[in-house]
Amino acid sequence: MKVTVIGGAGNVGATCAQVLANKEIADQIVLCDVAEGMCKGKGLDMYESMPIFNSSSRLIATSDYADTANSDIVVITAGIARKPGMTRDDLLKTNAGIVNSCAENAIKTSPNAIFVIVSNPLDVMTYVALQKTKLPRNKVIGMAGILDTARYRTFIAMEVGVSVKDVHALVLGGHGDTMVPLTRYTTVAGIPITDLVAKERLDAINARTADGGGEIVKYLQTGSAYYAPGTAAAEIVEAIVRDQKRVLPCTVLLDGEFGYHDICLGVPIIVGKNGIEKICELKLNAEEKDLLDKSAGHVQKTIKEAMQILK
Ligand code: NAI
Ligand code: 2OP
Repeated sequence: MKVTVIGGAGNVGATCAQVLANKEIADQIVLCDVAEGMCKGKGLDMYESMPIFNSSSRLIATSDYADTANSDIVVITAGIARKPGMTRDDLLKTNAGIVNSCAENAIKTSPNAIFVIVSNPLDVMTYVALQKTKLPRNKVIGMAGILDTARYRTFIAMEVGVSVKDVHALVLGGHGDTMVPLTRYTTVAGIPITDLVAKERLDAINARTADGGGEIVKYLQTGSAYYAPGTAAAEIVEAIVRDQKRVLPCTVLLDGEFGYHDICLGVPIIVGKNGIEKICELKLNAEEKDLLDKSAGHVQKTIKEAMQILK
């Protein structure tokens, strides 16, 4: 198994690569980045940690797509990250061009790869990668829902005072302020969360989840979150490599599911060796569908802007 991380010298890319290497998920992990020195330095440093992790993964650091040839999976984290005061959509213009060119280069050398997209605005960048690679939709997966759901689970665990392992939840929709945490599908070891936490607290947790990225940006000042995002991207890669049939909230191209067409949006899917193996449609009540419609409307508008930029 060969996995390439484009943007691998950056915070999210390097974190993702390190998780993949530490867990020996791939034999070869290629860090590909325009920042050549940073890439080579991080790649070598990571390789030197493999004896300590007792992992046989081999790290390759490069700015040359020839070294990425025949990757089984390509993760794209390349692009600029948020600074205080910026929304994910503020990144649109710069990152649309970057993701477009990274996808174009990567598909030439790895025509059979499954692509995992991380760059923001995530739902729109997933759409851009699909357009550029012309891959079938099962081979292009956007990572955001795993992160948003992990944040939500963490906040619920903090509130109830239990292990995050016992909190099961689902966050749907676009990766932004309009994301939709589904309270009705949230349980602590099977106990409905509404039996354990008051509505006002749940509303506050939903709002904190939607602002989860912004909360970290405010602390860091110079960039955005990367430990949870990099680990979340690695979880998708692991599910593909090990054909785990995991049920994960990911951003995928919808073709009628949930009533939407020609839009990339976060929904639960089954992930295995073929990438997206199934889109799991849930029955949403009127309030949930209304929130998802609002989120989809925002993503649809931003996709249109991206397509204009790339014309
Ligand atoms: P970073 O600035 O640390 O790393 C970005 C890397 O991309 C840099 O090393 C840069 O040299 C590289 N890069 C830029 N243009 C490139 C090109 N044309 N080819 C190859 N490499 C290129 O940023 P960070 O924190 O790693 O974030 C990366 C992206 O991921 C951002 O767009 C950020 O908003 C997004 N993100 C998405 C999340 C999600 O849930 N989907 C969560 C966290 C971050
Ligand atoms: C996050 O949610 C910035 O999208 C990134 O942390």
